Amino acid sequence: CGIIGAVGCGDATLEVILEGLATLEYRGYDSAGVALGGASLDVEKQSGELDVLRDSISAGGSVPDGSIGLGHTRWSTHGPPTDANAHPHTDESGDVAVVHNGIIENYQTLRDGLQDDGVSFASETDTEVVPHLIARGLADGLAPEAAFRDAVDRIEGSYAIAAVIAGTERVFAARHDSPLVLGIGEGATYLGSDVPAFLEHTRDVVYLDDDEFAVLSLDGWRVTDAAGEVVKKEVTTVNWSAEQTGKSGYAHFMLKEIHEQPTALRQGLSGRLDELAGQVTVDELDGLETPTTVQFVACGTSYHAAMFGVETLRTAGIPAQTFLASEYATGPPPIGNETLVVGVTQSGETADTLSALREASARGAETLALTNVVDSTAARECDHVLYIRSGPEIGVAATKTFSSQLVALTLFSAALVDQRGEESRERVAALRALPSDLQYVLDESRTADVVDAYLDSAAYFFIGRGPNYPVALEGALKFKEITYEHAEGFAAGELKHGTLALVTGETPVFAVVTGDDERARKTIGNVKEVEARDAPVIAVTDGVAGVEQYADHVLEIPNTHPQTAPVLANAQLQLVAYHMANRLGRSIDKPRNLAKSVTVE
Ligand code: G6P
Repeated sequence: CGIIGAVGCGDATLEVILEGLATLEYRGYDSAGVALGGASLDVEKQSGELDVLRDSISAGGSVPDGSIGLGHTRWSTHGPPTDANAHPHTDESGDVAVVHNGIIENYQTLRDGLQDDGVSFASETDTEVVPHLIARGLADGLAPEAAFRDAVDRIEGSYAIAAVIAGTERVFAARHDSPLVLGIGEGATYLGSDVPAFLEHTRDVVYLDDDEFAVLSLDGWRVTDAAGEVVKKEVTTVNWSAEQTGKSGYAHFMLKEIHEQPTALRQGLSGRLDELAGQVTVDELDGLETPTTVQFVACGTSYHAAMFGVETLRTAGIPAQTFLASEYATGPPPIGNETLVVGVTQSGETADTLSALREASARGAETLALTNVVDSTAARECDHVLYIRSGPEIGVAATKTFSSQLVALTLFSAALVDQRGEESRERVAALRALPSDLQYVLDESRTADVVDAYLDSAAYFFIGRGPNYPVALEGALKFKEITYEHAEGFAAGELKHGTLALVTGETPVFAVVTGDDERARKTIGNVKEVEARDAPVIAVTDGVAGVEQYADHVLEIPNTHPQTAPVLANAQLQLVAYHMANRLGRSIDKPRNLAKSVTVE
């Protein structure tokens, strides 16, 4: 989702907000809304793309008016994209308006409490609890800023949140695990979930840190910490080219999306982990009986995620298989009484996957869509849906959606068999730590230097075993998609059954080795086989099994649970593909011959 706020723009406020929303539309585009204020608030919101909101404002004649403004463009996570679920959300009097990115994990408890006190809700969103909480604080005699802080203190989860309150001429904002940045202009101050929201007006920015609050007023701006103490913030000037602007300063959408992964994973995990009990709770799966078998159908990158799903389900004791959707649609396998067919599809629109799901449904199977896009065809047609909550992905080569799929599949298998005990607690802890572990990998990665050594190789091979086998396949797919060089992924043990004939000193081998079990030891055996044929070895490893001694280069990841390690290893391989393609000057965001979503069979 995208947020924009502005104070001090006078009559231009509405246009500043709408233009800001236009630059943020790639962050979400299923509904949009604005709140403008002064003595009272005007709120206009609509489902659909931003133009629908623009048209309704100009057609309705009720042009929102005021010198403080907020805008929001939405990517649904709670509740479908309807007018009522669009942001801003207001309290009953309409004097408080709130926009929010992220997920409020304890919203149901807060909502129940407010409803018991007689508050009536207008939407199904988690966000709507916030304006009601602020209104209650105001009614209890709190000053506006104190009422905002009090409301934010009561919510748990991830948020970038902003509020306007009638009669205050101020915008109140706070963040936790979701980005928010101030724009410091001449006589005007802006707020954005992303710098491009206001870049047309100023290049001077202040990045809010987690748990900081900001107040924007006609007199300027002020940032305070969780205790209310004023924080001295540095104003930095961004120097992005026009081309970089939409990519928040990154050279490519793909790189931006690789770096968005910690946030994407936080969103995917939010409200789904119970750390005390060491359990996973996925509300969307409540009505689903545990199946006796699971068949996955998927294409491309999503097929690799499905392979990982098979591995996690089998570990949990549920027999599972995966099928390329195009093969399943034309020659489906037998379906048992309690077979669940899961379509793994980022877009929810891939024709091959939709056909396979329809075929499964026609044969009596229950179906589930694991997708990123709310109300996509797969989401609408399947009996159940599990959203991965990655946020929109623009780069044709899937990156953050793959990581989110792996996490969603881990949650899926843990929720299906209601795992408990020490092993489950360890997994929940590893999932909770995963976003920061991934941030570490992105911050410390040395891939840009490593690829330089292998620019002119004959071919590139990727190997891994168990849950790292799909990572090897995905590493190779990403590599060929954007570098146009020959790359292949293999199960580490299979290399010697044929492909070893191609291994020479001109074919670097990327070996994914995590943990210190039999699989890791056997993979090291395979590494020795390629080393003996003079192949350069690049080990992607947590350093536990000791593969480093056989490697020419090491790409390190933190030591974690076997089911979370693949997400970290994959991030290194995403960066390998990206940096190699960048050195070769390829069209990274739009590789030749490929489409983001393929709607023909
Ligand atoms: C296309 C894209 C791939 C993607 C595949 C499946 O071929 O180029 O990157 O993995 O479709 O897409 P889906 O939306 O179903 O995950």
